[in-house]
Amino acid sequence: MENNANQTAANQIVEHDRLTYGDQFRPKGWYWHSFGSRFAGPRILKLPAIVRAPIFLLRNLRFYRLPRRIPFTFDADGMATSAIPSFLNRSEFVSAYFRMRVASRAVVDPGLQWRVHQAMWCAANCMKIDGDFVECGTGKGLMMSAVLDSLPNWNTSVKRLLLFDTFSPFGIDPSSGRNLEEHGIRGTYASNIEEVAQNFSEWQRVELIQGFLPETLAQGKIEKIAFLHVDLNHAPAEIAVVRALWPSIQRGGIMLLDDYAQVQQQNDAMNQLAQDLSFEILTTASGQGIVVKS
Ligand SMILES: C[S@@+](CC[C@H](N)C(=O)[O-])C[C@H]1O[C@@H](n2cnc3c(N)ncnc32)[C@H](O)[C@@H]1O
Repeated sequence: MENNANQTAANQIVEHDRLTYGDQFRPKGWYWHSFGSRFAGPRILKLPAIVRAPIFLLRNLRFYRLPRRIPFTFDADGMATSAIPSFLNRSEFVSAYFRMRVASRAVVDPGLQWRVHQAMWCAANCMKIDGDFVECGTGKGLMMSAVLDSLPNWNTSVKRLLLFDTFSPFGIDPSSGRNLEEHGIRGTYASNIEEVAQNFSEWQRVELIQGFLPETLAQGKIEKIAFLHVDLNHAPAEIAVVRALWPSIQRGGIMLLDDYAQVQQQNDAMNQLAQDLSFEILTTASGQGIVVKS
């Protein structure tokens, strides 16, 4: 890690983690289902009415209501799963995830492991596809820091990474889609463009394009896209950039939609666009959407 701000952030994260204890992402405890069934079926219906009620009770206890130990191996970022998360221990994941945290400039682990894993999967596949990597909505650059860290051959490839953002720290106004001071400073948004450029300085061919989307897209002189990451937190802007960029995504290229299943308006708008442009969205447990161009 070359630059001082990144090194300072890295040192703080290491020190923070050294002083933590327990497992932040593995919940402990018990759960039960608020669910039951009064379905009888022919065997129970043959029994006298007086014993049916206890049978229903016992059956519901056995199948649904008895408390069970929480089986989750991972719980964060709005999702919980009992899947085996072997990727968490792979050295390339550990490094990329740490690099994402460095970009965030925060010591508290935000619990974005599944998103980073999915972004890394998309990027690794897209390295084999002709075309550039494009991100609409970069903020401090968390995801793309992890992605580039995970690609050892990035600097010797010919690909560009185009990062589009206003690079403003203020929240998005729901009606205009503009960053406005009255919506406060958002922790994951960039403080300024210089800081983001410095974060990415260890990688070649990373171009930051500052301004309001979709108007700034033309500045990217985009011909072919292998990987598109959309994370604007505003449905109309997301629809506009996907409409404009979809024809440039190459066959086999991937579009990753960050908040697809987390915000109703973005979900509805993207589902409509999927119909219009005839693409299929995979909803992931973290609320992202993944589209492979066929
Ligand atoms: C959630 S943040 C992006 C986080 C980023 N993808 C990461 O991995 O750290 C959303 C970003 O979209 C930017 N944004 C939203 N609407 C925009 C627009 N119309 N034009 C340019 N940037 C926009 C915001 O300034 C903000 O930085």
